[in-house]
Amino acid sequence: MKMSKVTKIALIGTGFVGSSYAFAVLNQGLANELVLIDINKKKAEGDAMDLNHALPFGSPMRIWAGDYSDCKDADLVVITAGANQQPGETRLDLVDKNVKITKSIVSEVMKSGFDGLFLVSTNPVDILSYATWKFSGMPAHRVIGSGTILDTARLRYLLGKAYKVNPQNVHAYVIGEHGDTELPVWSHASIGIRPISDYLKEGNGPTQDELDQIFINVRNAAYHIIERKGATYYGIAMGLARLTRAILNDENSVLTVSTLLRGEYGLNDIYIGVPAVVNRSGVHEVVELKLQEQELEKLHHSAQVLTQVMKKV
Ligand code: 2OP
Repeated sequence: MKMSKVTKIALIGTGFVGSSYAFAVLNQGLANELVLIDINKKKAEGDAMDLNHALPFGSPMRIWAGDYSDCKDADLVVITAGANQQPGETRLDLVDKNVKITKSIVSEVMKSGFDGLFLVSTNPVDILSYATWKFSGMPAHRVIGSGTILDTARLRYLLGKAYKVNPQNVHAYVIGEHGDTELPVWSHASIGIRPISDYLKEGNGPTQDELDQIFINVRNAAYHIIERKGATYYGIAMGLARLTRAILNDENSVLTVSTLLRGEYGLNDIYIGVPAVVNRSGVHEVVELKLQEQELEKLHHSAQVLTQVMKKV
């Protein structure tokens, strides 16, 4: 794996999510080089020009519209390309189209001689992360899906509002499919350092019914946004930027990502969202929570749904 000091990100897909991510990378100064690759080269060129014009206001970075050969010495290839949900569509409805697109992208990236990490966010992200792992032949720890990082952020935001606490001090995770079968891990949720169960016992803060409604809003957030503005992109772009920072800065941060399970939670041969330690090598370790029986059942149901879709493609 490349270990030089110049950090380079290759972004595949400059649609809403990709271009928002590129802006976040520039804004946060996350790399020295950012190459934009899109099937619509003009869009990538336009984004590169626009982003370059912001350089006098940001940290130095080389940004250009390139092609797959530019992936050769990239530390990170971020895939955001693919069809996105139309109103009324689920993420899983996108699978056929996006598996094909992912297959051709990964094959082009690998042809370049790429030897870094993949970060995948195209939906259905759990299935496309698994597909990227299979198509690339990379070790699984080097293929990371954005998983439930955004759902977890949405939950923390809403809990922060409900408890009047900075969401950065809310510790609560959404795991499972990034989609309709995901679940919140209430048994390990805390506000600051106090477990939510303490608040519930005291009758202080939201009731369990209100917490359930908060989770329903998290699960349906993308539908609500798509209904209003056609797509979601700022939240996921910041999630991808957060992951990029954890990877390139070798942070060992615990983030909910889609990663290959090998017996953890009683699951095997599946990419699904779980908390994991993320560093320069990718997914360093899966954090295995002791789930309550009902939570484990829901996670297994989520995994079953993903497995069934995977069998069809
Ligand atoms: C989201 O959750 C659509 O997966 C995208 O915002």
